Amino acid sequence: MEKKNLDWGNLGFEYIPTDQRYVSKYRHGAWDDGAMTADATVQMSECAGVLQYCQACFEGLKAYTTEDGHIVTFRPDLNAERMEASCKRLEMPVFPKERFIDAVEKVVKGNAAYVPPFGSGATMYIRPFMYANGPVIGVAPAEEYEFRAFATPVGPYFKGGAKPLTIRISDFDRAAPHGTGNIKAGLNYAMSLHAIVDAHKQGFDENMYLDPATRTKVEETGGANFLFVTKDNTVVTPKSDSILPSITRRSLMIVAEKYLGLKVEQREVYLDEVKDFAECGLCGTAAVISPVGKIVDHGKEICMPSGMTEMGPVTKKLYDTLTGIQMGEIEAPEGWIHVIE
Ligand code: PLP
Ligand code: COI
Repeated sequence: MEKKNLDWGNLGFEYIPTDQRYVSKYRHGAWDDGAMTADATVQMSECAGVLQYCQACFEGLKAYTTEDGHIVTFRPDLNAERMEASCKRLEMPVFPKERFIDAVEKVVKGNAAYVPPFGSGATMYIRPFMYANGPVIGVAPAEEYEFRAFATPVGPYFKGGAKPLTIRISDFDRAAPHGTGNIKAGLNYAMSLHAIVDAHKQGFDENMYLDPATRTKVEETGGANFLFVTKDNTVVTPKSDSILPSITRRSLMIVAEKYLGLKVEQREVYLDEVKDFAECGLCGTAAVISPVGKIVDHGKEICMPSGMTEMGPVTKKLYDTLTGIQMGEIEAPEGWIHVIE
């Protein structure tokens, strides 16, 4: 199959419409059979639940071309399960796991010409999402929904690729205690927009959010979980009920322990102890692992010993092993790689 003529090596993290997307409609208490469409637009009632009360959630995963020429995705079952959790919390109907995976497969196959070649540095980002398109005016869940999935080829999430980021402690919260921080609801991202625009204006790449109840513990950024490495090479990741359970982070903890023989800890991480870590990184589907070189707390700089020029050594090993697994260069744990074609 002939690939599209794109400048794969210079793609950013931007939406490029592709040829086919999947859509299934929920009406009268049931999902229809679903179908592919070339139409990239959506039409709905002015009173749709998503427009009035933000009833929407989404997922994000990637398709990769492996060294031997297959197209694969990484742990799509976990995206389906997380979307199920998001739907339940938002009183939306669940889109069944097997159908979620089938939709991902159809979208990747329908746009195979846009899946970046092996070694290009780019990947295909798949965005399954669901929203209430039925009308509601009293505050209530809608009765009609759409599940959709589209795909778009992407490069690195942060411009500059592996160059360490400078982030700041945010004065804004992205989640509330007992709120929706642990699901992938669009409303969480709306909450973070002012904070990220302001962070960029002040010259920072991202925000570090603290726990909203005490503001003493590290939570996550607007689009990724944190990983820290101690001076004796233990990989530490924050535990909190109000952060998104990142599939990349959960996978990296297994990679650290089983592939690299490192000690791992998932625990509360206090802001006060961040200055004692050797390395810091942001992890997620879009972020992969993006190193953090500096964290600024209201003018006070915490400079990671790994510096501002390259990834720390443990972060680099984690990055190489995870991406090696995703691209088929390193044998994956059972069930992690879902071959599409
Ligand atoms: N945290 C937030 C707020 C995110 O939006 C994402 C992206 O999906 C992540 C963490 C990373 O999750 P994952 O590794 O499953 O992509
Ligand atoms: C992802 O990594 O898939 C996300 O959803 C993060 C988003 C901010 C692009």
